[in-house]
Amino acid sequence: MIAAVFGSNILGGNTDKLLMEAIRGAEDAGCTIERINAAHIGVSPCMQTFGCMAEPHCFVDDKAEKYYRILKKCDGVIVATPVMTYGIPGALKSFMDRCQPFYMAKYYRKQPLVTREHAKIRKMLFICIGGMNNEDIFTGPRLTAKAFGEIIDAKYSDELLQNNMDEIKSIENKPDVLKAAYEKGYALGKGISDARDNTA
Ligand SMILES: Cc1cc2nc3c(=O)[nH]c(=O)nc-3n(C[C@H](O)[C@H](O)[C@H](O)COP(=O)(O)O)c2cc1C
Repeated sequence: MIAAVFGSNILGGNTDKLLMEAIRGAEDAGCTIERINAAHIGVSPCMQTFGCMAEPHCFVDDKAEKYYRILKKCDGVIVATPVMTYGIPGALKSFMDRCQPFYMAKYYRKQPLVTREHAKIRKMLFICIGGMNNEDIFTGPRLTAKAFGEIIDAKYSDELLQNNMDEIKSIENKPDVLKAAYEKGYALGKGISDARDNTA
C-alpha cells in the first residue's frame, strides 16, 4: 500500500491531476493506495504538548491516529503539493508536524514505529508545482519533504517538479509532465511490488 499525501486544497486541480497519474502508475504496478487529503481531514497543528516523548501517540484529540496507522503500514509515500509562499501549504505542513510521534520514537526513544526491514523498502516520490517561473521555489518544499521522509522512514528517492504554472495554466498543456507522473508512480509501485516478492 502506498500513502498518497495531497497538499492542495483544490480537488481536481493541477496538483491533483499529477497525483492521480502517479496513483494510476502505482496501481498498474500492483499497489493499492490510501489517500490523505491533508487540507480536508481536520487534523490540527502540533501543540507541543510533548506527550509523544513518552508514548507513540499524540494527545491532541482528533483523527490523527487514523493517519499515523496509514503512514506506519504503507510501503511507500507519494507527497503531491503546490508551492505556497515558497513553502508547502499550511495544512500539509501541520499534518507533517503532527507526525512528531514518529520523530520521538525514532530519534528520542530509539524505538522506531517502522521496523528496520520495512524502512529499507519505503521510499517517497515528491510531486510539486508552483506558479512562478523560478527554480528556487522548490528549495523549501524539497527540504520539508526530505525531512518528513526521514522522520516517517520513507526515504526521498524521486521527484517531479514543475514551475511556471501561472503561464502554463493547465497541466494538460504539459503531456510530458503527466506522463512523467505516471512513470514515476509506476516505478515507485514496481519497486515495492518487487521488494514484496523478494521477501515472500
Ligand atoms: C496562497 C498561495 C501562495 C502561493 N505562493 C507561491 C509561491 O511562493 N511560489 C510559486 O511559485 N507559486 C505560488 N503559488 C501558486 C501555486 O503554487 C500554483 O498556482 C499551483 O499551480 C496551484 O496548484 P493547485 O491548483 O493544484 O493547488 C501560490 C498560490 C497560493 C494560492
